[in-house]
Amino acid sequence: MNESGQSMLRVEDETPFIQFEHVYKSFDEKEVLIDVSFDLRKGETLAILGRSGVGKSVTLMHMVGFMKPDRGKINVKGQDIVTLDERQLSSLRRCISLVSQSGGLFDSLSVAENVTYAVNEKHPLSDEETRREAIRFLKMVDLEDLVDLYPKDLSTGHKRCVAIARALAAEPEAILYDEPTTMVDPIQSQLVARLIQRLHNQYKLTAVVVTHDLKLTRRVAERVVLLEEGRVHFLGTRDEFFASGDPLVHEFVMRDHVVALEAGAL
Ligand SMILES: Nc1ncnc2c1ncn2[C@@H]1O[C@H](COP(=O)(O)OP(=O)(O)OP(=O)(O)O)[C@@H](O)[C@H]1O
Ligand SMILES: [Mg+2]
Repeated sequence: MNESGQSMLRVEDETPFIQFEHVYKSFDEKEVLIDVSFDLRKGETLAILGRSGVGKSVTLMHMVGFMKPDRGKINVKGQDIVTLDERQLSSLRRCISLVSQSGGLFDSLSVAENVTYAVNEKHPLSDEETRREAIRFLKMVDLEDLVDLYPKDLSTGHKRCVAIARALAAEPEAILYDEPTTMVDPIQSQLVARLIQRLHNQYKLTAVVVTHDLKLTRRVAERVVLLEEGRVHFLGTRDEFFASGDPLVHEFVMRDHVVALEAGAL
């Protein structure tokens, strides 16, 4: 193949799965995202870090069109999603599953019904099929024994894992995790971290992990975005992040280290 042919192929292969280009977002007078640009490549796991209130969840909401930027472009697989109508947004949300900060399980539905919620919406399943399908996805998170329980019967860590199984059942091309290991004890948090790491290694899922948890970042992230005061302060590989001499990155890494020491997790 000639040189230009090769370069065209390369360009196509490198189309980011998600790309933020100079995104701005304000609420009332408060600027939350300021000139935010970064990309998520197919098959990679990107960690988005930053202190509380910096705009991490808002960034995820933009990726699935629950929020629209005031300025800038958000491309998914090369298509600008800012212009999509509701029907096109629904299909986008089938391709990108968001596991929200709360997990968002329906309390009145069993684990099986929760896990198969998206499947059932597409083609209604019998009770037996619901159970069988749910077990298939619960097996991916090693929790098939929970199939007949209800969310109230589950620990927070198990709720998170069931929420991840539900996201997997939608057979998405990418998963966005919002703080998957916060508000759970260290053992449960390791359970969730191990699960995300395994899904990443086994299925090579494209993923974004919003987190404060640097242990999780070390385990699963290939690249890291650090947001600070509405802007991308750092964007680079995980190794570049942890070796960075940037004072703010260093402070962020050390603060987490101290918190972990205090919690007896190190
Ligand atoms: N729908 C909304 N309307 C008005 N303000 C909002 C809305 N959603 C988020 N904000 C504001 O945007 C800012 C960023 O919020 P966001 O939830 O993204 O923070 P975060 O980085 O996810 O924080 P945390 O780590 O605590 O989850 C906050 O000041 C928040 O109050
Ligand atoms: Mg948040």
